[in-house]
Amino acid sequence: MSSWNPEQYERFRNERSKPFFDLLDMVTPIPGGRAIDLGCGTGELTKVMHERVGAKSTVGLDNSETMLERSREQAGRGLAFKLGTILRFRPRTPYDLVFSNAALQWVDEHESLFPKLAEAVAPGGQIAIQMPDNDTHVSHLVADALADEDPFLRVLGGPRTWPVLAPERYAEILDSLGFTDIEVVLRIYVHHLESRDSIVEWVKGTYLTYYKARLTEQEYEEFLKRYREGLYAALPDTRPVVYTYRRLLMHAVKAS
Ligand SMILES: C[S@@+](CC[C@H](N)C(=O)[O-])C[C@H]1O[C@@H](n2cnc3c(N)ncnc32)[C@H](O)[C@@H]1O
Repeated sequence: MSSWNPEQYERFRNERSKPFFDLLDMVTPIPGGRAIDLGCGTGELTKVMHERVGAKSTVGLDNSETMLERSREQAGRGLAFKLGTILRFRPRTPYDLVFSNAALQWVDEHESLFPKLAEAVAPGGQIAIQMPDNDTHVSHLVADALADEDPFLRVLGGPRTWPVLAPERYAEILDSLGFTDIEVVLRIYVHHLESRDSIVEWVKGTYLTYYKARLTEQEYEEFLKRYREGLYAALPDTRPVVYTYRRLLMHAVKAS
């Protein structure tokens, strides 16, 4: 079940790539090392990461065939892509860099996920993660409120439970898992988009994919119509419109 659409996702490519580069700036190169990109999507950014850190080999892992289809164009020169879920990610040999940009917000139970990720990092290796944390923005609240109302409530059983923890909690978790040089940064990105409709298009490519995957085509069309109405009622019609986006970036080194 994949509702990811690479074309829709990449409509806001420039806005979305900024946090990726901010995360990459936190990473120390690993010349000749091994890296993994969890939830690599179309693989374009994985390739940038692979080259920038100087890895000998990098694997991009994703559970969406449609996103991975695009990644084939990027493969080669030590870069490979694999279909698979982060939920079952248990590598036999740990990596020098476990990297993940804008993907772990799709995985639940971070308290139990992080110890597994930590096991995948070699002693002296790095973990680098960026996650959107914008569930308190009206762009997400309107969708969640709809999911809490019939007819959608009957099908969905309620809104999505947001799994991203408080920034401090990640610092504590990484510390308890034997990481040093821990940096957890909460950053608000400010985007000037053409109009409110651009926010709808943005969210269609990401957050709404959760609801799309659980509704029939007809139900989703109705959901989207009511989402647009709800968002328009909540936001003034300014052009451009300011879309603030809260994100967590973290980086740490595993003790040797
Ligand atoms: C917002 S995209 C980010 C893609 C890429 N990292 C980037 O920065 O452009 C999130 C990606 O995470 C993938 N994903 C979500 N849940 C996953 C899981 N459990 N296992 C593997 N990939 C997952 C999706 O298929 C999607 O390609």
